[in-house]
Amino acid sequence: MYKEMDINKAFLALESGPVILIGSRFKGKDNLMTISWQMPNEFSGTIAITTGDWNYSFKGIMENKACTIMVPDSSMIETVVKIGAVSGRDCDKFQMFNLKKESGKIVSSPIIEGCLCAFECEVLDYIEKYSILILKVVRALCDESLGDKRVYHAVGDGRFTLDGETINLRSLMEDKLPLGV
Ligand SMILES: Cc1cc2nc3c(=O)[nH]c(=O)nc-3n(C[C@H](O)[C@H](O)[C@H](O)COP(=O)(O)O)c2cc1C
Repeated sequence: MYKEMDINKAFLALESGPVILIGSRFKGKDNLMTISWQMPNEFSGTIAITTGDWNYSFKGIMENKACTIMVPDSSMIETVVKIGAVSGRDCDKFQMFNLKKESGKIVSSPIIEGCLCAFECEVLDYIEKYSILILKVVRALCDESLGDKRVYHAVGDGRFTLDGETINLRSLMEDKLPLGV
């Protein structure tokens, strides 16, 4: 049976995942931030994230109209949370967390080693009223050598859930899937 709940806690039930990292460059300095509010919004590589100018990364993303997205696996979970707890305004997160990086080929934002996937993205739009940044993936990379392929999802209150068993229900939704996936 349902009972009333606080509207401000509604997002906890919908938190999407996985938790991702965003790479950016501002005035020649690379930076990283953690994002759990992300949403793929079509099959052709358009992705929305919720962020804004309260984060230092935002300046770099808007300056270059570009960023990178990385999908870390569960071996990096503590580092990913720590990356989201400090600001590039005050530190160099690559040094602080001993992360190896290279620049993207199409965009100048950094890609760190050791993530399951890395996407170079261009900014298509920013909906300021709702702090929604719309990104277009222009290059996609994946590292299939990584052992633990589990990603993790933010509950929204400091807890995280790790991916578990994979259940294949393709046969029930074949005509809803894009070709080639
Ligand atoms: C697990 C986790 C999830 C986060 N999700 C978001 C998010 O979806 N949007 C956002 O703007 N900030 C999010 N943050 C906060 C930023 O990562 C944080 O403010 C970070 O310090 C920004 O770094 P910067 O100032 O160097 O850009 C999250 C932080 C953590 C730890």
